[in-house]
Amino acid sequence: MNSIVTQRLEPDPAGVSAAVRHWRAGGLVAFPTETVYGLGADARSDVAVAKIYEAKGRPAFNPLIVHVSDLAAAERLVVFDNQARRLAGAFWPGALTLVLPVRADAGISKLVTAGLDTLAIRVPDHPIAGQLLAAFDGPIAAPSANPSGRVSPTTPAHVLAGLDGRIDAVVDGGACPVGLESTIVGGAPLAVLRAGGIPAEAIAACLGMSLQSADATTEVTAPGQLASHYAPQGRVRLNVTEPFPGEIYLGFGPGAADLNLSESGDLLEAAASLFACLHQLDEMGAAAIAVAPIPESGLGVAINDRLARAAAPRE
Ligand code: TXA
Ligand code: MG
Repeated sequence: MNSIVTQRLEPDPAGVSAAVRHWRAGGLVAFPTETVYGLGADARSDVAVAKIYEAKGRPAFNPLIVHVSDLAAAERLVVFDNQARRLAGAFWPGALTLVLPVRADAGISKLVTAGLDTLAIRVPDHPIAGQLLAAFDGPIAAPSANPSGRVSPTTPAHVLAGLDGRIDAVVDGGACPVGLESTIVGGAPLAVLRAGGIPAEAIAACLGMSLQSADATTEVTAPGQLASHYAPQGRVRLNVTEPFPGEIYLGFGPGAADLNLSESGDLLEAAASLFACLHQLDEMGAAAIAVAPIPESGLGVAINDRLARAAAPRE
């Protein structure tokens, strides 16, 4: 891909207009959401969506999440059943992605769904994302704004570290408050396809029933759930209470550590700082990383999922 100059846009009316102009011209603009930065393009344009795959070096079988400004816009693209409408009512705007049957006349590029007859869709809860989507007035396909297989970005600096010269612009919205990707729910029976920013318990409570978890029973899993993913450069060891000499220790809770996900042992804070810590380990040149145990409850489930991928064997 030819190198282009990546603009850094302010989150003001001029920046929003410039971002929308890029999108209308089939360009790529990274933008803040409450979860992570997305790499956005017009979801109706094959060429624009192909540029996402090219910029990320992403395997083409991996479908993308479409972002819209409200439920009405989502209803024009996918078919909601009662459960889906209830979840959207409770969690949108927010860190929940619903996988639903795509409408025949949705006009979404086949590259977005990667040939599936379902579409992953969400309404992000971030003022700048909201302004961008309202001004663009159309569906934006956006995976996390990182090269494929690398750590998701939660700041504009992370985006530029991976994609500078490969995308048209990044809108600077500071750090993402949630810091973990959205929870993906879909399939029949309904299942959590990817743990994320909204705990499975909250979704179950909303529906008044417990959900299947991803892998076992459902045929649809989120294809992005490749084993080695979210990986920093260094080797990662998990559930470590005593790091080996030479290992950089990523702590959780009180105690000595080189970096700490949350000194007070708060899972919300740990989720928000997880990817920033993994980026920082890369910046430190950490070759061997040991990570403290994280409780497997609430947001800890998603944090442990991301950490297991970071520690998975690479090819
Ligand atoms: O928080 C997020 O979800 C962020 C922000 C930018 O919105 N986006 C994000 O996108 O994490 P991405 O592309 O990195 O992950 C999308 C996930 C992948 O695991 C993909 O396989 C799954 O969504 N997915 C997309 N369409 C699907 C479908 N029709 N059925 C099942 N899984 C799907
Ligand atoms: Mg991603």
